[in-house]
Amino acid sequence: MKFTHESIEINAGLMIVLTLLAISIGGLVEIVPLYYINDTVEKVEGVRPYTPLEQRGRDIYIREGCYTCHSQMVRPFRDEDMRYGHYSLAAESKYDHPFQWGSKRTGPDLARVGGKYSNTWHVQHLNSPRDVVPESIMPNYPWLLKNDLDYSDIAARMRALRIVGVPYSDTDEEYQANVEKFGAEMAAQFDIHQADRNLVAQAEKGNFDGDRSRLTEMDALVAYLQVLGTMVDFSKYDEGYFTEFR
Ligand code: HEC
Repeated sequence: MKFTHESIEINAGLMIVLTLLAISIGGLVEIVPLYYINDTVEKVEGVRPYTPLEQRGRDIYIREGCYTCHSQMVRPFRDEDMRYGHYSLAAESKYDHPFQWGSKRTGPDLARVGGKYSNTWHVQHLNSPRDVVPESIMPNYPWLLKNDLDYSDIAARMRALRIVGVPYSDTDEEYQANVEKFGAEMAAQFDIHQADRNLVAQAEKGNFDGDRSRLTEMDALVAYLQVLGTMVDFSKYDEGYFTEFR
């Protein structure tokens, strides 16, 4: 008898054995890499959770659907490196829930936009992109300057992120662990119990929307944009595998 695919299809026993074999191989290919995930995330300094204000800005970024036109992952290709800067590291999005890597680039990648423009530029650009980039097709977001920032639920948002692994501190032990890991100033920012106060203080100090008398959604969004891609100081890593493209 010639052995064809039909011989498998009409033999239930053989079909079951081969199906199990195919599933086992597929399963191994998917599951084994998960055991090595910690080796894949590079050991770099500087990556930290977002402050309450930045986190609130990130929520607004997601609410407004900015990710439908902007990715946040610089691919490891020479042209990307030259345009956007160092390619993104896995470690840089380890506190991102959900991550914003994306694959849609109607506009440029934003993974390293922090520090590229002034706060004033961002405010003008978000309010009315064509005021600063005449050929832009990005929509206007005028309400960001008009809406007061609602941060009443920031502690709850941080608690939710803590459940999925972001080291915001809820207890004294967690706070102390953060002091050791991120330093005293940052540890205070990650303390859920001080979230409201920290959020307001950072917005007042940073004056992101250019109007100190009010706390707007623009403050939070610009604070978020300005931190993107700035946590790792790549000048410290000019030897070794991070710079293979340079
Ligand atoms: C319809 C697609 C679209 C959406 C939605 C969109 N953008 Fe853009 N964005 C663009 C395009 C196109 C550009 C390039 C032209 C320009 O600078 O305006 C751009 C540029 C930018 C830049 C400047 C990047 C650089 O490196 O020069 C920033 C920052 C930015 N967008 C932020 C945002 C934010 C924040 C949101 C959500 C509130 C958003 N965009 C929503 C299309 C979009």
